[in-house]
Amino acid sequence: MNTIQDVIQIIDLLYKHNWDERNGGNLSYLLSEEEVKDICDIHHPLRTFSYSFDMKELIGKYILITGTGKYFKNCLKDPKNNLGILRVEDAHTLSLLWGYEDGGSPTSEAPTHLKCHIERLKVDPLHRLVIHCHPTNIICMTHIHSLDSNRFTETLWKMQTESIVVFPEGIAVLPWMLCGGEEIGDATAAHMKDYRSVVWAQHGIFCTGKTLDEVFGLIETIEKAAEIYMKICDKKIIQSIKNEELIQLATAFKVEYRKGIID
Ligand code: 13P
Ligand code: ZN
Repeated sequence: MNTIQDVIQIIDLLYKHNWDERNGGNLSYLLSEEEVKDICDIHHPLRTFSYSFDMKELIGKYILITGTGKYFKNCLKDPKNNLGILRVEDAHTLSLLWGYEDGGSPTSEAPTHLKCHIERLKVDPLHRLVIHCHPTNIICMTHIHSLDSNRFTETLWKMQTESIVVFPEGIAVLPWMLCGGEEIGDATAAHMKDYRSVVWAQHGIFCTGKTLDEVFGLIETIEKAAEIYMKICDKKIIQSIKNEELIQLATAFKVEYRKGIID
């Protein structure tokens, strides 16, 4: 149950940061069979959910997924109604092993989550986690800043020293699209081939990684940079971080930064 407790703590923190109002946001986390066996009987699936897209790369994997319409606010006190643990049975079917006790089902963003897991596992075998949330300043920025991924990244890198160290690969940005479907899932997953973070204009962000700390830290750092931008964007700037200084940082911290943005 320890892993589930750790996930619930992160969900609660996301809520307390004001990034997941009402049912806003969703999370999915790949679990090992050992972790799942501690919690439920893996031989007796309770229900199944079908998807038209192909997820054969995930067959056999166990995934904790937040429920659709559920509030992050309530996960701590009532995990069994708000979360589900599922197994990918075949290319189109997930079976429920635990959770969604009030008859619920996986988040409406499950297509994006599942497609992102498929893409991230291709580039990082240790990948486990996808978090979607609605951080205020990132959303604000998409109302007033160019949505070009390189320009968006450059601005965030220049807001604070730690940005290029924490997200050297940059941030991809999608224009406004209808959420909750396969099209936005495909567009997001396409960027996940070489980004861990994809912003959805006027909506929020999808971040991925190996651990709860890594992904939470990534969201915190991007949102902090966006907050600084929103606080200074209408002020007269008299000095900021120069391109050579960003390169100096990347060299000192031994990170591979995305080329074509500051050089
Ligand atoms: P769900 O309640 O289906 O998880 O949707 C919340 C959300 O943030 C949609 O983008
Ligand atoms: Zn959302």
